[in-house]
Amino acid sequence: MYPQTRLRRLRSSSLIRDMVRETCLSVNDLVAPLFVVPGGGISNPISSLPGQKQLSTDLLVEECFQLKKLGISSVILFGLPEAKDEIGSAASADDGVIQQAIVAIKNDIPDLTVIADLCFCEYTSHGHCGVIVDADVDNDQTLVHLEKQAVSLVRSGADIIAPSGMMDGAVEAIRRALDEEGFQNALIMSYAVKYASAFYGPFRDAVESSPSFGDRRSYQMDPANAREALREAEQDVLEGADILMVKPALAYLDIIKSIRESFDLPLAAYSVSGEYAMIKAASERGMIDGQQVMYESLLSIKRAGADILITYFAKELAERL
Ligand code: PBG
Repeated sequence: MYPQTRLRRLRSSSLIRDMVRETCLSVNDLVAPLFVVPGGGISNPISSLPGQKQLSTDLLVEECFQLKKLGISSVILFGLPEAKDEIGSAASADDGVIQQAIVAIKNDIPDLTVIADLCFCEYTSHGHCGVIVDADVDNDQTLVHLEKQAVSLVRSGADIIAPSGMMDGAVEAIRRALDEEGFQNALIMSYAVKYASAFYGPFRDAVESSPSFGDRRSYQMDPANAREALREAEQDVLEGADILMVKPALAYLDIIKSIRESFDLPLAAYSVSGEYAMIKAASERGMIDGQQVMYESLLSIKRAGADILITYFAKELAERL
């Protein structure tokens, strides 16, 4: 008790503060999301995500080289296919936009970990994350397509498959399909706890995946629910997930903390497009110090319990670290 205890002693100089700091950010924590388009020589700035671009494979590989040089050894890929249809066929084409991108990356930078997002919303004409039956996504029919997509992505060289569609049984179905093809070593990073969030807005502009009718609330989680997050995570653990993910991050730090406390799997947090866009917008208008807010936000996500940070700030942070 005061005056014997003076907590300010632990903050008295930057050397002491460095010594007692509990949480540190490292380039090893970072995963950079990247958007891939068909063609060559394409670099389209994404207006809702300042600093982010849609890249064709050639420039994507260049970007990966730069990330690697900064110490980032993992990327997660999202694709904009040439054509969309009702069932998202382009998602599992062996010459699909992501499949070609993975082959190119692995060819030039074999020691970069490639995570492939596994979902249909970028590939379906209606923008939903699966097969539509009676105006809703049919869970079990969608699983069949997810299996094909996963196998195709791993065959192209993906190291980690990240199912993001919130279909029940997806992890089990994908694990079985991968094992049957001899891909026992491919990891599954499950978007176990993914909320139906308005923070995805800028991403949907970036990949043109806004649903043409309705919303995603019959498959993504209700932001009001925390206990249900534990049930979602438990299911995915039982089904064989290697890594769990919570998404979004900043508005869900309580969820990150409770998943960390309840499960021993590595935990990823996806700091989504809206989180990035808000910081960028306020910073551009001189309302906040963007660099400091970036650092503090990502630190808080790690402090809450995330081991892996998926963030559009990956490159910027790595440059600073
Ligand atoms: C695909 C997917 C989405 C995001 C990642 N994977 C969009 C969605 O669910 O609507 C969002 C990422 C972001 O906002 O940065 N289902």
